[in-house]
Amino acid sequence: MDGQQSTAAKAATVGPVILLGAPGAGKGTQAKLIAQRYGIPQISTGDILRDNVARGTELGKKAKAFMDRGELVPDQLVCDMVADRLRQADCNHGFILDGFPRTVAQAEWLDQLLADQFFKNRCQVPPVVVNFRVGYNQLLQRLTGRRSCPACGRIYNIYFQPPRVPDTCDADGSKLVTRKDDTEEVIAERLKAYERQTLPLIDYYQRQGRLREINGDQPPDKVTAEAFRAMEHGDRL
Ligand code: AP5
Repeated sequence: MDGQQSTAAKAATVGPVILLGAPGAGKGTQAKLIAQRYGIPQISTGDILRDNVARGTELGKKAKAFMDRGELVPDQLVCDMVADRLRQADCNHGFILDGFPRTVAQAEWLDQLLADQFFKNRCQVPPVVVNFRVGYNQLLQRLTGRRSCPACGRIYNIYFQPPRVPDTCDADGSKLVTRKDDTEEVIAERLKAYERQTLPLIDYYQRQGRLREINGDQPPDKVTAEAFRAMEHGDRL
């Protein structure tokens, strides 16, 4: 891609981006960088659900028990939530789905939604799917070491990406927090749910010819560079 290309032009050409990967694979970390580069929004279903739980909405009340156990929230609840979000104007030229789809049923639903005339008129580019591959032990260390800023959402890791001052956000000085589902017991359930329900999506998108595989087990800037290359590959831009 031409380095001089405007953010608006990049946004219009990159279109929808779907990030796949196990819990802790780096989807949220990379989504923020992709959002900055292309000027398209990061839509993290986990973040939206956690926000609903924190605000005590009807959706949050229904989702909370599933999330606390490390299970997936039922498809219909998540799909309705995503449909509402994708209809907002900031998604006109593209968006990054971080944590969605997570089941084959969600992926089929998304294909139908994007084939709808409303979405076709707004975004001409078909989605690209980027899968971050990371080994099991590395995932465990990443999840148990994760801390995040409750104010700006920045993600840290006490082993790999520590803040300059322990427990404090570099950007705004807030006290960092540990996610409630980042305990060893819940992590084990989340990884099981991933293997059972989300791994089949690799085949699903491979068959559609949309899948780009990335080695997520390298320093974040190397992963970012590979992700940008994957999105800007071939006939997409
Ligand atoms: P969600 O919030 O989506 O969690 P997740 O998929 O389990 O993914 P994570 O956010 O844990 O990891 P990540 O891949 O974003 O990694 P990160 O960049 O933070 O979902 C939570 C729950 O919500 C689910 O369990 C489910 O209940 C529900 N839910 C959400 N979506 C749903 C859906 N579609 N359907 C049904 N239910 C749904 O990085 C992790 C750590 O690693 C950080 O500390 C980071 O600093 C570090 N790190 C990142 N990259 C690197 C690197 N290259 N090298 C070293 N360290 C790194």
